[in-house]
Amino acid sequence: METLWEQRYALRTQNMKGSTIRELLKLTQSPDVISFAGGMPAPEIFPINEFSEASTRVFKEHGQQALQYGTTDGYLPLREMIARHTNKYGINVTADNIMITNGSQQALDLIGKIFINPGDRILVENPTYLGALQAWSTYNAQFVTVPSDQDGIQVEHLEKALRAGPKFMYVLPNFQNPTGVTIPLERRKLLVELADKYGVPIIEDDPYGQLRFEGEHIPAVEVLDDQMRNDNGCCYTGNVIYLSTFSKILAPGIRIAWVVATPEIIQKLVMAKQGADLHSPTFNQILTYEVARHGFITEHVKTIIRVYRERRDIMLEELEKNMPPNTKWTHPQGGLFLWVTLPEEINTTDLLIRAVEKKVAFVPGSSFHPLGGGENTMRLNFSNAKPDMIRLGVQRLAEAIRENLK
Ligand SMILES: Cc1ncc(COP(=O)(O)O)c(C=O)c1O
Repeated sequence: METLWEQRYALRTQNMKGSTIRELLKLTQSPDVISFAGGMPAPEIFPINEFSEASTRVFKEHGQQALQYGTTDGYLPLREMIARHTNKYGINVTADNIMITNGSQQALDLIGKIFINPGDRILVENPTYLGALQAWSTYNAQFVTVPSDQDGIQVEHLEKALRAGPKFMYVLPNFQNPTGVTIPLERRKLLVELADKYGVPIIEDDPYGQLRFEGEHIPAVEVLDDQMRNDNGCCYTGNVIYLSTFSKILAPGIRIAWVVATPEIIQKLVMAKQGADLHSPTFNQILTYEVARHGFITEHVKTIIRVYRERRDIMLEELEKNMPPNTKWTHPQGGLFLWVTLPEEINTTDLLIRAVEKKVAFVPGSSFHPLGGGENTMRLNFSNAKPDMIRLGVQRLAEAIRENLK
């Protein structure tokens, strides 16, 4: 029977649809399915001892503060630590430029809340991070897409999209989710120049930047934008809002991430966050600070890189051995994902049904294309499954594909 609520949903909930793919992916949670679907870190290298020791310290030394309400912008020593980290890359910021959020996912939502009016156009790479599409669809955003290749967003197609007058542009320059590709320096520079020419601000989402397995670090879009402007004697005044998170370098369960922006934007985000949750958990923020404060992350990231690099290599090797002809995949230099393009005649949503029967899962690529397309593509995660499971999983996947081709 219908309750009184059924007819009272706000119009914006019309964009909160379930999907076939999400239903299918629910089936992949059983333990005998090898899942390349989620974006989960390897749990066996979570720094459990460090968290455990730090949490004893937090209770002993900051117990009352840790269990009390906190400020909306976040725990000051943590914000100061993040500001010092950001300054190392040449951007002049203080704690006033930083806000702590419940994961970068909340930052995406709050950005939608303060910037998107119904019908506003948002420029995104195609394909792009599904969580951003979900967050901003709720605010009735319209997406304008720019195709990407093995070097990320294709700047030669950018001008046309910029002329459509987007409210802002959303880019993931390092080891992109879903494709794993990285935007090279020259493309980043062009992107920043074009955005400046057309007066379009940039959201830079960078959860994976520190997880580089090979090659040189490339300056963030925010750094390049700042250098181009070169007018900030004292503090950051650029057109980029930068997001990053402790999810992939410590643990996603703590839900602690950060935004770097001008103090004016931070103030607006703070007001939006007040209405959402008052603040991120004080205990988790102090805990994160205590774990990170003596340089632990720099050391820990080395372990993560070693483990993920090995898993990426195994996945690449197995793809090479098992995939049918006319199949391509990306070779990510870091991060958690790679992207497979299958022969045109394969629809990966149909393939997922067969794959789940064979006890292997992935995310069909169409999910990451806001305007449709990408039906023959898929995202594979290589951080979560152990090496033997990656081998077996790719073999099962290849079998499913071969059967599908028949
Ligand atoms: C590109 C991107 N942005 C944001 C997020 C959300 O991360 P968080 O755990 O910080 O909410 C993810 C998570 O996988 C991501 O891939």
